[in-house]
Amino acid sequence: MALRKISDCNIAGRRVLVRADLNVPLADGVPRDEYRLRALIPTLQHLQQQQASRIIIATHIGNPAPGSTDPAYSTQNLMPWFQAQGFGDVQMLENVRLSAGEKKGDIAFARQLAELADVYVNDAFGALHRADTSLTLLPQQFAPADRCIGLCVQREMQELDALKTSAQQPFVLVMGGAKAKDKIPLLQHFFQQPPANRPQVCIVGGMLAQACLGLGTALDTATIRSAQQLGTTAQKNNVRLVLPVDFAVIDGPVGSPAKIVPVAKIQPLQQCVDIGPDSIQLFIESLEGVKTVFTNGTMGMYEQEDYAQGTKALLGAIAAISGHTVVGGGDTVAAVHHFALEDRISFISTGGGATLAYLGSADPLHDLPGLRALLD
Ligand code: 3PG
Repeated sequence: MALRKISDCNIAGRRVLVRADLNVPLADGVPRDEYRLRALIPTLQHLQQQQASRIIIATHIGNPAPGSTDPAYSTQNLMPWFQAQGFGDVQMLENVRLSAGEKKGDIAFARQLAELADVYVNDAFGALHRADTSLTLLPQQFAPADRCIGLCVQREMQELDALKTSAQQPFVLVMGGAKAKDKIPLLQHFFQQPPANRPQVCIVGGMLAQACLGLGTALDTATIRSAQQLGTTAQKNNVRLVLPVDFAVIDGPVGSPAKIVPVAKIQPLQQCVDIGPDSIQLFIESLEGVKTVFTNGTMGMYEQEDYAQGTKALLGAIAAISGHTVVGGGDTVAAVHHFALEDRISFISTGGGATLAYLGSADPLHDLPGLRALLD
């Protein structure tokens, strides 16, 4: 049942295939966000120190159609970055999603990749919730002693396990973002933990807040229903759910000037693009004295300067907390970088959906396909 760490594996003189998650945004072929690239460095350094005979990296970028020749999906775009960091001798396989076998559970594709190496390292934390071939069937081609997690996955698991089992109280969740549905299972899970591991407060903005308040024309009724059930679970378990009292809304297309409207006055066709000033104040007050924060999802469309107040204020308040702060999720991480707050956050997860899946699971070793495939 063991999940091996890279330090448990025999590396010297052996060929090592590292499945990484280097799914980073590219602009004209240049990585725009290096965070996931940097997160792989400790594993590459370890493999060099342990004298691996060859280091082969496999990753996906985006969701291309298999066989696509669009250069925007090529992993070769990443090589200049690795060369500049002194890893010019690693071998970068082409985007695994360009092979039809990656999404199809194709054993022939798994065997073809397995032939390249003696040891398999999964350091693709952001993709652990995917059952793709290079994350599941591929490790199974290696003996249990020759498949392990890398240092990025190890650190993520330590940080997220600590959040689940030993967060210092008061522990507060700050949730937002455009995907309301994804967050509900995680919150249900957290709200039902024993009191020592349960957040005392859950601050909610973004689409999830709209779902909880029954606003948001873009939301389906099932999401609204499960968001409202969340309110019941919170109440039953003494979690204080803090919802916005006002929003910045627009009547026209994105880019139109926003006006501040109290929740009760929001019209069905108005689109909420940020939380309002009273909500910002309420949320910041709710963060006073907290010792641990996990945040995922932005308060609004922060990429538009006019709709960025809520996200900026909340992330700024979280960054100013002297306790332990953890940020998860692609968009939230991008927002942290946008407001240049990365040095003031205790831990920034490299995962988006994977972080939510890990935190929302009572048994991530079995629930996340990428981890399950490594067990004996
Ligand atoms: C991510 O960016 O969250 C991971 O790389 C997974 O990507 P996916 O959602 O396209 O599978």
